[in-house]
Amino acid sequence: MGVDKLQPLRSKWLKTKLIIDNESIKPFIPDTQKYNKTNLKSMISKYGMVYVKPERGTFGMGVIKAEMEDHQQFVYQHDQKRLTFNSFESFYTNLTRLVNKRSYLIQRGIHLLKHNKRRFDIRVMIQLSPTKQWEATGIIGRLGHPKKIVTNYHSGGTPMDVHKLLNSHASAKRRNELIQEMNELSLRIARHMKKKYSYLNQIGVDIGLDHSLKPWIIEVNVKPDPFIFNQLKDKTMYRKVIRYHRHAAKKLTK
Ligand SMILES: Nc1ncnc2c1ncn2[C@@H]1O[C@H](COP(=O)(O)OP(=O)(O)O)[C@@H](O)[C@H]1O
Ligand SMILES: [Mg+2]
Repeated sequence: MGVDKLQPLRSKWLKTKLIIDNESIKPFIPDTQKYNKTNLKSMISKYGMVYVKPERGTFGMGVIKAEMEDHQQFVYQHDQKRLTFNSFESFYTNLTRLVNKRSYLIQRGIHLLKHNKRRFDIRVMIQLSPTKQWEATGIIGRLGHPKKIVTNYHSGGTPMDVHKLLNSHASAKRRNELIQEMNELSLRIARHMKKKYSYLNQIGVDIGLDHSLKPWIIEVNVKPDPFIFNQLKDKTMYRKVIRYHRHAAKKLTK
């Protein structure tokens, strides 16, 4: 069945390698490397802030935010716990204990935009329509829990209307351009991935926006939750997302 065919795409490493192959997608992918001492040292020195996350994680579980405060101060936050270290060695030793032999990745950290002092990112839903055209069917913002470093709904994030979240950051005209840009980027990702994984019929792209409003691809989900759109008061997106979702599910079981 289709579900098994998509199994390799549970790996964030494999997905990153797949989409980085496309020149029109590559500029939007934050530098991503495997977790090890050398990569951690070079990435944290280069970017100041990185995210360390499980290669096969979901729901924001196990995600860590790490920062170099000055050249001898290292901090990491996991869940609601924040720890400071006076040397890279002690920071690395402690962090590695938390990673605990699981496969982890290091990604350049994006300084996400904030709303009421809470970070947010954007989820773009791309689905194959009943007439087999890729369509951007939904877009929603996810406002992180005030004490957490992830925005996932299952980690206490609040789904919200994108215009409301972007209101203080961009004019109505700029917001619409930005939404279109994120939709087009996500459509390119879906088309590119479908070349290799023909069973693919939907993706949910997690997009982070930095202070210059540049979109960064944080993660591509191949089994995105359609019900998050039910959190919006306006049910227009939700109805379409569910209709396409059900149509695709029925086709897979045929
Ligand atoms: N590189 C990053 N920069 C900023 N925030 C990030 C980064 N990576 C992850 N996050 C935050 O953590 C959340 C969960 O990370 P993600 O890679 O989507 O894993 P999961 O599969 O657990 O959802 C993201 O939605 C975002 O809020
Ligand atoms: Mg995610």
